[in-house]
Amino acid sequence: MGSNHLLSYPIDVRQLAIVPLDQGLTRSALSPSRVLMRLVTGIPTPPNALALDAGCGLGRNAIALAACGWNVVCADRDANRLRQLEVTKHRTLCSIRKPGIDPGELICVCVDLENQRWPFAEGVFHLIVGVHFVKPSLFPRFAASLRHGGHAYFETFGGHGDNGLALPKPGVLRRELRRQFCLIRYQEKIASVRHPNTVSVKALAQRL
Ligand SMILES: C[S@@+](CC[C@H](N)C(=O)[O-])C[C@H]1O[C@@H](n2cnc3c(N)ncnc32)[C@H](O)[C@@H]1O
Repeated sequence: MGSNHLLSYPIDVRQLAIVPLDQGLTRSALSPSRVLMRLVTGIPTPPNALALDAGCGLGRNAIALAACGWNVVCADRDANRLRQLEVTKHRTLCSIRKPGIDPGELICVCVDLENQRWPFAEGVFHLIVGVHFVKPSLFPRFAASLRHGGHAYFETFGGHGDNGLALPKPGVLRRELRRQFCLIRYQEKIASVRHPNTVSVKALAQRL
């Protein structure tokens, strides 16, 4: 898979007119995580590649992955966001379609992932993504539903504004990830001057 398959895209916000723009929805809020897309270029896309976007929101990362040929299960507990994703996904995918790549499917699943009943079978996903949805309590479930050799990518919020309050303490995510995965890349940054005891994290891990 060449890196030209993984260009980040700004979704044309007009395509999402169903979402009131006065809710603070900005162009950057609709672009996928650049680090995720860069790291995914290093992961071979297996035949029938299946990814889980946990806490997918409006699906900015799921759509970018689908444009690269991944089938993506888009899981979120917010039915309204999933409804918006259902309405916009085909149009958006068509608009960012890459020559020579058949886009994957986007399968929306409305589910509270923190519920006691975990909905996914063991060893089904080649990739699990949690962007701005990083819950260490779910790491064992993610690991179980990943195939051996499958990858997991997690990214916390940056440290802007009051985000710092919700971010982890230094070293905590590294320790929690290591319990379940082999860490491939781990980047930890002090959240902000206002929140020097918390960090923002971007991590790529693998189930061995
Ligand atoms: C900050 S948004 C991030 C959305 C998306 N990953 C992104 O990067 O644009 C967090 C999302 O996680 C969802 N979420 C939070 N807790 C959840 C849970 N327990 N189960 C499923 N989804 C959850 C929210 O509804 C929201 O859409």
